[in-house]
Amino acid sequence: MNLLERTRTLQGIHSRGSHAQADSWLLDELIVVLNLHSDRYHRDNEPLISDPEFDALLAWLRELESALDEPIRMDSPSRRVGAMPLDGFEKVRHAQQLLSLGNAFNGEELQAWYERALRRLELPLDSNLDLVAELKIDGLALSLVYDDGVLVQAATRGDGQVGENITENARTVRSIPLRLSDTVNTTIERAEVRGEVYFPKSSFEKLNESLFSAGQKPFANPRNAASGSFRLLDSSITASRGLAFFAYSTGPLSAPIAETHSQELNVLSSWGFQINAESKGFKGIVAVVEFCASWVDRREMLDYEIDGVVVKFDDLQIQERLGNVSNAPRWAVAYKFPARESTTTLLDIVINVGRTGMITPEAVLEPVEFGGVTVSQATLHNADYILKRDIRIGDTVVVKRAGDVIPAVVSVVETDGRNALPVWRMPDRCPACDSVLEQIEGEVDFYCVSSTCPEQFTRLVEHFASRDAMDIEGFGSKMAVLMVEQGLIRTLDQVYSLTSTDLLELEGFGEKKATKLIESIVASKEVPVARLLFGIGIRHVGKTVAEILINQFLSISSVLEQSETELLEVDGIGPVIAKSIVDWISIPGNRELIASLSNLGLKMEEESGPQDGGNLAFVGKTFVVTGTLASMGRAEAGEFIKKHGGKVTSSVSAKTSYVVVGENPGSKAQKAEKLGIPILSETELIHLAQV
Ligand code: IVH
Repeated sequence: MNLLERTRTLQGIHSRGSHAQADSWLLDELIVVLNLHSDRYHRDNEPLISDPEFDALLAWLRELESALDEPIRMDSPSRRVGAMPLDGFEKVRHAQQLLSLGNAFNGEELQAWYERALRRLELPLDSNLDLVAELKIDGLALSLVYDDGVLVQAATRGDGQVGENITENARTVRSIPLRLSDTVNTTIERAEVRGEVYFPKSSFEKLNESLFSAGQKPFANPRNAASGSFRLLDSSITASRGLAFFAYSTGPLSAPIAETHSQELNVLSSWGFQINAESKGFKGIVAVVEFCASWVDRREMLDYEIDGVVVKFDDLQIQERLGNVSNAPRWAVAYKFPARESTTTLLDIVINVGRTGMITPEAVLEPVEFGGVTVSQATLHNADYILKRDIRIGDTVVVKRAGDVIPAVVSVVETDGRNALPVWRMPDRCPACDSVLEQIEGEVDFYCVSSTCPEQFTRLVEHFASRDAMDIEGFGSKMAVLMVEQGLIRTLDQVYSLTSTDLLELEGFGEKKATKLIESIVASKEVPVARLLFGIGIRHVGKTVAEILINQFLSISSVLEQSETELLEVDGIGPVIAKSIVDWISIPGNRELIASLSNLGLKMEEESGPQDGGNLAFVGKTFVVTGTLASMGRAEAGEFIKKHGGKVTSSVSAKTSYVVVGENPGSKAQKAEKLGIPILSETELIHLAQV
């Protein structure tokens, strides 16, 4: 069995809970496997499993060990942090060990950590001591030594006792001061500053793009990129990579600088270090739990990766009194977020054909559970994405879920023997209709351009009936497949000629279900016109674009009459969309489709006027609002106009009736003047409504 298979076996045993107690095979196996992973991570910079997977196995080992009545084995990974440093760098012994952190995975564990500390301090369990919660930056720990305020040595953590001398690399990072600025005018003889070097997400994406273009392998995540860039023997490359550093504590100091951790952070900031702005002080643990949980989703908005929140007792004397257990302090704990990344095997790559003919490759995965859900499919974006990363069927891949986004394959893990796997090739032909696939100039995606592709049409029918389009209840993906397969629907308008008799002949349909579906189909004729425009599936015309177009041109036929140049004049419509609309109407059958939908009684125009008939000064008139109005917001002004029966559009054209102008109006007001369109102030607009 290879390492990954051995790992999966252990994970299986763990999740089944079948070995609640350690037997000697299980202990041996866990220790050996964890040590091998640790080497891959620290020594080779090429992890095979994700950090949370590693942490989960290590936590399990610790749990088993603590239940045993014998000393922890010398080679157990629970005895040490990390692996030995690489040979290429000089080794440095840290003046004081760089500690690791214990983990808490939920509110109860956080609470339990706090109470353990209070008990040790012999304080009542309802005491509210000062705590500081900080983001746990997912980068690389560094120790920086300053002699008389000058950076003399920078070292990685290594195993906590001995790290690597990477001073030259550290000097290239702009947020690491080469000399401490001393605002209090007392030069400190020797100070060690600790913190995390990290890769901003934005520079990470740029780096991966440039690695791609140079034909090199991209990094799986910003953490690997930070560690890879930092351990380069050639520091000039490190310099070019845009790394950054957050300081979060001190090591040994020749003179004390603070009494609390938060004061210490202030001093570090006055010395010129970047301190993370999100850290927050609390009294007691209750509100800390909320703060930690709030970052699970908010982390998406940050320009750096975090993998948890570190909670620390603020008072340095209390820290001192609490002390450490082996290599972790009792005065701090890491609240770890649920995993967003995992590794698994890529079983297959299937090709999907979308409603516009766009081809999207999808990964079929050996199911893995992480962050509370089982993932067995993930997007591979497009052919280019797969080829640049050299993703092959049979590979071990890293899969990531972020926020609500669909899981994506982000990278390949280098494994022995993967070179023997065949290189993936984009198929030449559409899997559904066998026509030759084409790449549109300027786009990375491949398309099936056949107008008779059954798969494309099925997806189009599904899209047409979907909630954001015609919203036909009971008409989902399965129904679309069935209708198209049975030949009941060959063009979109035929959705409206379906009869109960047609439906009753289909499997699974009874009287009641058939009647209900027909009713929903009839009801869908009433949806607003922008939804219909979205529903007919013009490439690049999404929900918002459809709304912009209808706002501007008021009806589908008017949208489809416009030339590319006219469309381009509309705010929010670019060349790709404009061309796609013009192309769509030139496809045989589409003009007829629109005529037929209109004959069937679907809404082809924006309903004009409000319920009560509206104000005559507004009905049938088109308004553009620009600049800052004195009392109303722009959206509010829009609502005001609509309420009185007017239309609001985003760009000025000859068809605009009025332009409402506030402070700092810009080009729209100029254009109105040029076209001779009446300009109104906010007060005049309000007057108009009172006419
Ligand atoms: S405090 C004894 N604060 O997390 C205290 N660590 O598992 C140890 N880390 O590699 C460090 N952000 O580099 C602390 N705000 C923060 C941190 C942080 C990230 C890293 C640290 C270490 C790991 C601990």
